[in-house]
Amino acid sequence: MNTPIIAPSILAADFTALGAEIDRVANADWLHVDIMDGHFVPNLSFGPGITANVNDHTDAHLDVHLMIERPETWIDTYVKAGADCIIFHVEAVDDPVAVARQIHAHGIKAGFSLRPGTPIEPLLSDLEHFDLVLVMSVEPGFGGQSFMPEQLEKVRALRSEIDSRGLPTLIEIDGGISANTIEQAAAAGCDAFVAGSAVFGAEDPDAEVDRLRDLAAAAR
Ligand code: DX5
Ligand code: ZN
Repeated sequence: MNTPIIAPSILAADFTALGAEIDRVANADWLHVDIMDGHFVPNLSFGPGITANVNDHTDAHLDVHLMIERPETWIDTYVKAGADCIIFHVEAVDDPVAVARQIHAHGIKAGFSLRPGTPIEPLLSDLEHFDLVLVMSVEPGFGGQSFMPEQLEKVRALRSEIDSRGLPTLIEIDGGISANTIEQAAAAGCDAFVAGSAVFGAEDPDAEVDRLRDLAAAAR
């Protein structure tokens, strides 16, 4: 297994000092960019302008999580803003595989995410079309919520399907990840871990990134 990937969510950063905040997580493997439209989820975050500013500031891989309606109409915009991977919600599209093809046509990675109440089983047969699956371990919309351990059942189902078919698809988990929860997520089979409040709320965010990675590596 590869080294665990830690992806701090800039949703938890101080937006008045975003460049400095990004510099505080220089050890991060990826940066997680949470886009919310106030419709698909009951909250607004930021859009392509700030995403492009982030991309101009850092060479980090941008993991763009679209919590928006009609994500297929925004792909060009987020590719131009610097996304390295675009993750959309299956609840927001009719044909997830077609959207993955649309993303791949731009030469970047494609992932899907699913709300806690959405079953994974109908999607398992399409996994070969995706570079990544983002399992939500909170209801999407807000940072700082409590981890839902029952969502690890989805991670186990994905791990077994991916391993039995020898697929390269990564499993990422998002919501409530901290030093208290990352080990169970790693043990269930996650490859990548989004952490917002746990990282940006730490006194030394870079040290927290390293600590989370070490905990995940030891638990796998
Ligand atoms: C929730 C977002 C998450 C969130 C994670 O809708 O997708 O990425 O920012 O924040 P924490 O780690 O604080 O739960
Ligand atoms: Zn997210």
